[in-house]
Amino acid sequence: MRKDKRVLSGMQPSGKLHIGNLVGALQNWVKLQDEYDCYYFVADWHALTSQYADPSPIRENVNDLIINMLASGVDPEKATLFLQSRLPEHAELHLLLSMITPLGWLERVPSYKEKQFEIKDKDLNTYGFLGYPLLQSADILMYKAHYVPVGIDQMPHLEITREICRRFNGFYGEVFPEPEGLLTKFPKVPGVDGRKMSKSYDNCVYISDTPEEVEAKIKTMMTDPQRVRRTDKGDPELSPVFQLHKIFSSREEQAEVAEGCTTAGIGCIDCKKVLIKNLLNVLRPISERRSELLQKPEYINDVISFGTEKAKKTADATMSDVRKAVML
Ligand code: TRP
Repeated sequence: MRKDKRVLSGMQPSGKLHIGNLVGALQNWVKLQDEYDCYYFVADWHALTSQYADPSPIRENVNDLIINMLASGVDPEKATLFLQSRLPEHAELHLLLSMITPLGWLERVPSYKEKQFEIKDKDLNTYGFLGYPLLQSADILMYKAHYVPVGIDQMPHLEITREICRRFNGFYGEVFPEPEGLLTKFPKVPGVDGRKMSKSYDNCVYISDTPEEVEAKIKTMMTDPQRVRRTDKGDPELSPVFQLHKIFSSREEQAEVAEGCTTAGIGCIDCKKVLIKNLLNVLRPISERRSELLQKPEYINDVISFGTEKAKKTADATMSDVRKAVML
């Protein structure tokens, strides 16, 4: 038990979660909650930095994200589960941190320019969007987190958080421990077209997909492009289906389908059937818990209120240290 160390992580409520989010983040959160004092939250203000022109889906997405967290096994008795916008302390800390943050640090964060370039249907040339990583720093420092489990794409945000942490402590005394990223190690999750699984590519298997949808998506999923006919020998390493086997299938099954593929002993459909079975075995219990939770909106509200209450105690304590440090 290492409940003396604190972990914090958050997710944006940006719509349906896919199986990459499940194995890349949520399953890891579930593991960590037994070992650490975990704070997990829904970053709804972060969603607003890009969805400000039409925030109408955010509320719904918040609920769905909480439901997915719970259905995947995040336990509100073990971890503190909360909603960012219920804690105005995050906004206060964000403001105070903004006083000491050189503009160049924010402009240099790669996601700032990349997202502006990628996302053409929204104007991300705003103060709020520039401050996205700083709001994230406030989230992390608020709970004096030691570890922040994130994917590789979030590492620059963690790096700037560490720099801001050092700068704050340098000006005002040691208030914050320097947080460390816990790089979530998991094999790359390919989408059904072989590219990285991503909502913007429309190539996802979603946690909320029905068994029929999962089956249809895997059945038409890309395989080794060189294996055109059933009699062609394939190379599993060239098949995104095999990448999913590595995540969802047992070692024996992996060995069997690899052997069948390389010798043309089995066809792609046989290989996919094994994957479909294993994928559905993982998704079935989650889907059952999802349907139960969807029937209990008051329970979801209670979970959020309970977690927010707990988070508030920690946030209050930090903010009183912070206000003292900045002499306000
Ligand atoms: N930026 C993160 C993402 O898009 C979400 C996030 C917001 C976060 N605040 C955080 C993650 C604090 C970790 C810690 O995935």
